[in-house]
Amino acid sequence: MDTTIFYYTGTGNSLWVAGKLAAKLNCAEPVSISGLKSKSTAVDTGAVGLVFPVYIWGVSAPVIRFIDTLNRSQAGYFFAIAVNAGQVSNTLVQLKKLLARKNIDLSAGFEIKMPSNYIPWGGPGPEEEQRRLFELAEQKISRIAAAVSDRRRLPVEKGPLWQRILFTAFYKMTFSRVPGMDSKFHVDDKCNGCGICAKVCPAANITMHGGRPVWNHRCDQCFSCLQWCPQEAVQYGKKTPGYKRYHHPEVKLKDMLKS
Ligand SMILES: Cc1cc2nc3c(=O)[nH]c(=O)nc-3n(C[C@H](O)[C@H](O)[C@H](O)COP(=O)(O)O)c2cc1C
Ligand code: SF4
Ligand code: SF4
Repeated sequence: MDTTIFYYTGTGNSLWVAGKLAAKLNCAEPVSISGLKSKSTAVDTGAVGLVFPVYIWGVSAPVIRFIDTLNRSQAGYFFAIAVNAGQVSNTLVQLKKLLARKNIDLSAGFEIKMPSNYIPWGGPGPEEEQRRLFELAEQKISRIAAAVSDRRRLPVEKGPLWQRILFTAFYKMTFSRVPGMDSKFHVDDKCNGCGICAKVCPAANITMHGGRPVWNHRCDQCFSCLQWCPQEAVQYGKKTPGYKRYHHPEVKLKDMLKS
């Protein structure tokens, strides 16, 4: 096996990107980093890719924890795709530095814009616009596949300078507060106690008590629990009852539970 693709996802966009890329590269099914239990991840194929969503203008804690496990023995070509909703900012520059600490050179870093799953700022946008983003994403994935096949070394893609300065400051201010941000989650009367929110949480941050989910302040803010609740009963703050839910239309709950 020549290429291994790792991914992290909350609402399926990154899983879809990783799957499409794997098909174009004719390599094995992508590996979920949420499912990895070992403290050491061997990086020993010819090319290794990491596909993950941008959170708060940077690299999220679960992705940083995964990078900490990397154990480089062979991979000569390491690439990444930062899936985002239009503001990749400094994410891939930060990733390059994080990997350098593990003695891994990020050979190429690409960004792909997809619909937003950050529901506190509203829904994912009109379906027509979503379809346009998926089409553009497919085109970009083809270009990425060609670059990866050729083992092309490229500078990482990044947002404008103002964004990188301002939003990197926000990222640094917010990062340590993320696990406790789940105090804004609550459920409404539509909850039927099915427990899917707890099962889909990649951080095992939700426990069921008296047929209702309880968030335990180890949150990574992926919004899986809210976006995959079949009853749309999970709310975050006050505005989300009026906002449309989102997950990638081709990714199903069973794919999430598998990963
Ligand atoms: C907590 C959180 C923070 C986010 N921050 C950003 C951001 O800084 N820039 C951006 O473009 N998108 C941001 N997004 C949107 C996601 O990166 C985007 O919707 C991505 O496609 C989701 O991928 P997934 O479906 O694989 O989880 C954020 C989403 C979440 C949940
Ligand atoms: S997934 Fe929704 S309905 Fe099911 S237990 Fe969680 S909040 Fe309740
Ligand atoms: S509690 Fe919800 S938002 Fe937090 S990590 Fe779990 S699924 Fe993601």
